[in-house]
Amino acid sequence: MTSKELRQKYLEFFKAKGHTIIPSASLIPENDPTVLFTTAGMHPLAPYLMGEKHPGGRRLASAQKCIRTGDIDEVGNPTHHTFFEMLGNWSLGDYFKKEAIELSWEFLTSPAWLGLDKNRLAVSVFKGDSDAPFDQEAHDIWKNIIGVPEEKIARLPKKNNWWGPAGLTGPCGPDTEMFYWAGEADKIPASFNDDNPLWIEIWNDVFMQYNKTAAGTYEPLKQKNVDTGLGLERILAVINGYGDDYKTDLFKNIISRIERLSNKAYGTDQEITKAMRIIADHLKAATFIMGDDRGVAPSNLGQGYVVRRLIRRAIRYGRQLGIKEESWTKEIAKVVAHDYQEVYPELRRNINKVIEQLTEEEAKFKKTLELGLKEFEKLGVEGKISGNQAFNLYQTYGFPLEIIEELAKEKSLTVDAAAFAKELEKHQKLSRTASAGMFKGGLADASEATVKYHTAAHLLLAALRKVLGDQVIQKGSNITAERLRFDFAHPGKMSDEEKQKAEELVNGAIKQDLPVTGEELTLNQARTKGAHGIFDAKYGEKVTVYTIGDETLYFSKEICGGPHVEHTGILGHFKIQKEESSSAGVRRIKAILE
Ligand code: SER
Repeated sequence: MTSKELRQKYLEFFKAKGHTIIPSASLIPENDPTVLFTTAGMHPLAPYLMGEKHPGGRRLASAQKCIRTGDIDEVGNPTHHTFFEMLGNWSLGDYFKKEAIELSWEFLTSPAWLGLDKNRLAVSVFKGDSDAPFDQEAHDIWKNIIGVPEEKIARLPKKNNWWGPAGLTGPCGPDTEMFYWAGEADKIPASFNDDNPLWIEIWNDVFMQYNKTAAGTYEPLKQKNVDTGLGLERILAVINGYGDDYKTDLFKNIISRIERLSNKAYGTDQEITKAMRIIADHLKAATFIMGDDRGVAPSNLGQGYVVRRLIRRAIRYGRQLGIKEESWTKEIAKVVAHDYQEVYPELRRNINKVIEQLTEEEAKFKKTLELGLKEFEKLGVEGKISGNQAFNLYQTYGFPLEIIEELAKEKSLTVDAAAFAKELEKHQKLSRTASAGMFKGGLADASEATVKYHTAAHLLLAALRKVLGDQVIQKGSNITAERLRFDFAHPGKMSDEEKQKAEELVNGAIKQDLPVTGEELTLNQARTKGAHGIFDAKYGEKVTVYTIGDETLYFSKEICGGPHVEHTGILGHFKIQKEESSSAGVRRIKAILE
C-alpha cells in the first residue's frame, strides 16, 4: 500500500463513520506561545477540546503534519522521526471509550480496511496513580467486547499511558495504546512486553477527561473527548512488512538521493544507515518548517534555532558519509517537495525560499565548521569540555550542543552540559526579553493574556478598516503573552494621526465594554452578514463568526476559530508601539495592552 492510499483510506473510514475531515494546520502554531511547533493532531484543536464549538461538528479526523524534537536522539533507529504525519480522529464530547476503541480495532483489523492479523496486536491501558484511577473501563472493553486476551492487555503507568497536555497546561488524560508484533509470525509472544522493540506502538487513543491547571492539578473537563493518533510512517511500514519506516515511499526517494550523493548504500552498514536516516529525517523536517506558509528561517532563536540545528546536524552526518558536493542539502529539499507536493502544496509554493535558505545556511555553517573543528581539536585535554568551552563553540562557531556532544563522544570526552545550559541562559537573559517562551505571570496568565491579544487583534483590524478604508486586509498575526504583532496590506506608512485615530477607536471599543459573541454559520450566511475573514472553506461548510458589539451595529465581525474574551472591557489600554514595513505592500503594527 502506498502512503497516499493509506492516508486516504484512513480519512475515508472516519468519514464513513460520520467524521468531518479537516485539513492539516500549519506546523507553526498560531496564538499558542507554549510550544514551538504543532506536535500532534490535537494541538490545533485545543480550544475545541476545552469546549469551544468546532464548525466541523463533534466528530473530526485529519492527517496533520507534526514536529517533535523531544526524541531527536532516537532518530537514526527504524521508527523515530522529528517530522511525521499523524492520522487522528476526535470526538468532541460525542463518543467516548467504547466507540473509540471499536473504531480503532475495526480500522486495523477489518479486511475491508487494513486487515491486520489480530494475533499480532496487543494493547496497554493506564494502571492508575494518585492523579487518576486504573482505567478499568478501557481494560474491560478490550477484554470483553473486543476479545483481547488478558496477557495482551498491559497495565502501564503515566510515563506510558497518559497523554498531554501538549504544552504545560491543558487537556489530557489516560490513553490506551495499540502495538503490532513486527517479528516473525511463528514467534508471536503470548503476552505483551514493553521492552521488546518488535512490539511497535502504532496507535494511541487518548481519553481526555482532565484539564491540567497551572497549579499542577487535574480537573475534570466539562466535555469528555477522544483524541487519537496513528503515525503514518510507522503504520505504513507495518502493513508493508518493512520493519523500517525509511523503506516506505515516504523516505525511499530521499534515501536514494542521499545514496547517490554519498556513493554509499543504505542498509549495508549500521553507521551508514543511521547517518542516512538522520539526514533524511532532519532535512525533511527542516524543509517542512521552512516551506510552511508561516515558514521559519534558520536563526539563533526559538523555532529558527531548531531549523538551524536540524540542518547543521544533517550536514555533519553528510560529512561523515563523505558527501563532497558543495551545497547539497537543497537537493534533498527538492525531493521532499516533489514527493509531498500533492498532499502539501505549500511545499511547491515555497520551495524557492527553502532552497535559498538552505544554500545560505549551508554556506554559513561550512565556513565556521572548519574553524570550529580546528578549535575543537585543541580542547578536551583533561578528558572534558567545560561549559565555557562548549558555549564558545556554540556562539563563535555555531555548533549546536548535540554536535559538540557527538564530537566529544567520538573522542571519548564528556561535555559539561549543565554548565553549558547556564552559560546559554545567562547569554539569553542578556540578549532577549522574556517573550520567547517564559512568562512572568505563569502559564495560566499567559494563555489568558494571549486570548486578550487575540480579541485586540480583531478590534485593531476593524479600526484600521475604519481609518484607512475597507480594502485593508489582514496578512498575518503573531501573539505572545506580551504583545501583538499584526500584518496588514496597505501601500504606505501610516501617518501619526492615522495611528492615533486607530488607537482611539480600539480604546473606545474597550471602554464601551462591548460583548464578544461567537455564532456558527454557513459560509454564505457569514458572507451575507458582512463578516470578514478567509472565505475559502478551511473547515468545510460551517464557520464561527465572532461579533464584537451589537449584532447589527457591530464594531467587528470576523470569521475566526477563537478563543476570545467575553467582554472587551477587560482588555485594558491598547497602545500601538510601532508601525513599520513588513514586506512590499505589507505593514506591521506592534501593539501592547497595558
Ligand atoms: N495526542 C496523542 C498523541 O500524540 C494522540 O493523538 O499521541
